[in-house]
Amino acid sequence: MAIVKIKGLVKRYPMGGQKFTALDHIDLEFGKGEFCGFVGPSGSGKTTLLNVIGALDAPSEGSTVVLNEHVETLSQKKAAGLRNHHIGFIFQTYNLLPVYSVYENVEFPLLLLKIPKEDRKKKVLDALEWVGLMDKIKSKPAQLSGGQCQRVAVARAIVKRPELVLADEPTANLDSENSYNILEMMVKLNKELETTFIFATHDEKVMKYLRRKVHLVDGKVTKDEIIGKGAQ
Ligand SMILES: Nc1ncnc2c1ncn2[C@@H]1O[C@H](COP(=O)(O)OP(=O)(O)OP(=O)(O)O)[C@@H](O)[C@H]1O
Ligand SMILES: [Mg+2]
Repeated sequence: MAIVKIKGLVKRYPMGGQKFTALDHIDLEFGKGEFCGFVGPSGSGKTTLLNVIGALDAPSEGSTVVLNEHVETLSQKKAAGLRNHHIGFIFQTYNLLPVYSVYENVEFPLLLLKIPKEDRKKKVLDALEWVGLMDKIKSKPAQLSGGQCQRVAVARAIVKRPELVLADEPTANLDSENSYNILEMMVKLNKELETTFIFATHDEKVMKYLRRKVHLVDGKVTKDEIIGKGAQ
């Protein structure tokens, strides 16, 4: 089953009086359970493509179907619904809420979905167990290390059991040991829950884990490389 189906995707940004083409006629498909990513030089369009797939940024042309929704036609409200229900995001800078505890940060996506309290508690504790942070549930982000913050961000991304997780340079602020821990955890989630992961990355450590690398140069796909079983 295709989770993402992209045809003729173009993304242009206004630049001075002209337009800059950040994504140039992209055709791609991603199936359920893929562990894959966009790789390529800075400015090649990795984040832009991830943001279009995540319905955070509207495409200029083409058809982008994510979990059976045409993102190019979605209203802001429908796009938010698609994100809140079905997509988990992990960013380079964690984006945790500083005044909230670890528990509350992970609970946040479930509040948006109006999930009842008892059910929420179970899901939050499950997710924190997954990332090995049960001993930090009352801490605030400022009291955690970078690796622990990123583990909270992973727990927050997966707490609602989304079909799709989009991760933009998730290891950029981590040392190698923490990077490998986070990646191992993601691989485990990918295997056990069949969660589809799409990364945007320059990091060689992440690349070793990817089972498919889509190479981008100047907004174009130059190579779509299937690696087989990767580092597992
Ligand atoms: N909001 C915007 N307005 C104008 N141009 C933009 C905007 N966002 C991105 N761009 C341009 O689109 C191109 C692709 O940017 P993008 O952020 O997708 O690159 P990237 O591959 O993620 O790079 P990096 O590896 O540095 O994160 C860049 O040339 C960038 O300047
Ligand atoms: Mg980027």
